[in-house]
Amino acid sequence: MRRAWWLSFTLLVALAAGAWLTLKPAHPKAPGQPLTLLLTCDVDGRLVPCGCFSGQLGGVTRIATLFGPASPDQIRVDAGNALSGTADYERILYSYIQQAFGKLGYDALNVGEREARLSATQLRELKAHSPVPMLSANLIDRSTGAPLFDTHRIIERNGWRVALVGVLDGRGLGDTLGEGLAIEDMDVALGRLLPQLKGRADFIILLAFADEAALTNLARQFYELDVILGGKVRQPSQELLKENRSLILATTNEARAVGMLQVAWRAPHLLGPLKGEVQLVSDQVAQDPNIAALATAYREEIRRTKLAIDDPATLREDMVPGVQPHNSYAGTQSCTQCHPNAAKIWLKSGHAQAFASLVNRQADADPNCISCHTVGFGTATGYRREAGAKSPFIDVGCESCHGPGGEHVKLRSAGGAVDVHFRPVGAGDCQKCHHGEFSRPFDYASFWPEIAHGKEPAAVKSAKPPSPE
Ligand code: HEC
Ligand code: HEC
Ligand code: HEC
Ligand code: HEC
Repeated sequence: MRRAWWLSFTLLVALAAGAWLTLKPAHPKAPGQPLTLLLTCDVDGRLVPCGCFSGQLGGVTRIATLFGPASPDQIRVDAGNALSGTADYERILYSYIQQAFGKLGYDALNVGEREARLSATQLRELKAHSPVPMLSANLIDRSTGAPLFDTHRIIERNGWRVALVGVLDGRGLGDTLGEGLAIEDMDVALGRLLPQLKGRADFIILLAFADEAALTNLARQFYELDVILGGKVRQPSQELLKENRSLILATTNEARAVGMLQVAWRAPHLLGPLKGEVQLVSDQVAQDPNIAALATAYREEIRRTKLAIDDPATLREDMVPGVQPHNSYAGTQSCTQCHPNAAKIWLKSGHAQAFASLVNRQADADPNCISCHTVGFGTATGYRREAGAKSPFIDVGCESCHGPGGEHVKLRSAGGAVDVHFRPVGAGDCQKCHHGEFSRPFDYASFWPEIAHGKEPAAVKSAKPPSPE
């Protein structure tokens, strides 16, 4: 008897639950296909990997292959710092990166710290030509007092209305903020904007150029944020973070790592992660020919374009008041006659081929490359782009390591007493060029023997200086 009662009670509960389940209206946006969010941050001008050694990671050319063709169940965003610097050639390169993002079907580009170092005028110009909307909810145009970019945009994906919002943590900028710009606190801008998005979007993705602590803080402050993608981090997220109601993923590392986050609808205002990870952009990933073509177009444009660095007036050596103008560069040829041994070793080394390596890649007019493959580029007496391969300052020359030798050549040629000496050169000088993606892991003990030089025959040391011509 008791048992029967218990059974019928259970049955009743089960029936009721069943009825409730079938009666409950399916959410208008029932679990559809999952959405995949693809994230880049800190691309830092790396449209293509430089090719300084094999086995290099990264480059938008490879990111293109990793991401594949744009698809309706994906959202692609950049969280900022795609720009490498404020120089004119760096801005030109950035506009090509924007074009690459356009070809890859990106949905939004957030403004990072480096972009915010440009002036309002330069940013307006970039905004006008960008094929992908640039977003920032808190970067203000001083002349109007209004945001310089769209604060957000709402896109449709797989039946979902998704709001993309951009912010930049201004605290790291100090006084490097570009001319004509002001920056509002992220929480002030979001506090104003987020309530306006209520009902207009099914979920909100925040692109935030901010560090881990600030990203987590935003998640705690604003329950409306379903996903936060960043950021200004030392290393890419080791794992997907969950804070308050937000999923947080961040990446960095000069286009060598991308974030991928697959989400699906679970309950109102909640997105469950199906998968969240940061992937390395390995050298095994093929480079996309369409994006590589953009890099070639950039290098052609940069060759034709007159840049600030080509103007000798911008290359003054005595910019710091009270400091003597720098010793001038003399060129490798002017060293070889008195240092034939060093010259012989140098000629056989890769350093004497460094400019040819750039020519092979049509990169010999690109300031991004020239700096380490010539002598004294960017100074008043060193390599100049208009001289091209005929310049006496091509390649990694004697003075790339020893420093400018004009004074030394003058004094030694005059044959009198010499009380000016080159300073000793060591591993630190090598690593100005041999670092990061620009070199195989540098090890002085094994690299130096490949180019070891310096011992000249005593006869050379006491020889009379050669007469000029
Ligand atoms: C920070 C200095 C630096 C910059 C900037 C730089 N390089 Fe290099 N590059 C190097 C060094 C160092 C090596 C030698 C690496 C090694 O031996 O491991 C090298 C080697 C090379 C080589 C020869 C590779 C080989 O296998 O023989 C090529 C080609 C090259 N760089 C192209 C470029 C291009 C193109 C750019 C611009 C996008 C560039 N480099 C920018 C430092 C630089
Ligand atoms: C101004 C930039 C620069 C500096 C400084 C520099 N290198 Fe290099 N190094 C290069 C570049 C560029 C190459 C690649 C040349 C090429 O093949 O195009 C290279 C290549 C090399 C190679 C391999 C090429 C070869 O000779 O077979 C060695 C070894 C090397 N460097 C050692 C050194 C050492 C040791 C120092 C410091 C004493 C040094 N480098 C300082 C730019 C530099
Ligand atoms: C890749 C960097 C690099 C290049 C290029 C280079 N040197 Fe050196 N050189 C060194 C280093 C490192 C030493 C050893 C440390 C020192 O003496 O400062 C050295 C030593 C010397 C010495 C002996 C210094 C002494 O105090 O006795 C002479 C002379 C010299 N180099 C001349 C040249 C000449 C000439 C060239 C060009 C043909 C040249 N070097 C190219 C890095 C370089
Ligand atoms: C007119 C001859 C002459 C010319 C040209 C010349 N040197 Fe020297 N250099 C000498 C003599 C002589 C010494 C002292 C003996 C020695 O150390 O070999 C010397 C010494 C050096 C030293 C050792 C450190 C020092 O300052 O004493 C370095 C490094 C050096 N030269 C590099 C260069 C470089 C780089 C160039 C080209 C920019 C160059 N030399 C051009 C004659 C010359």
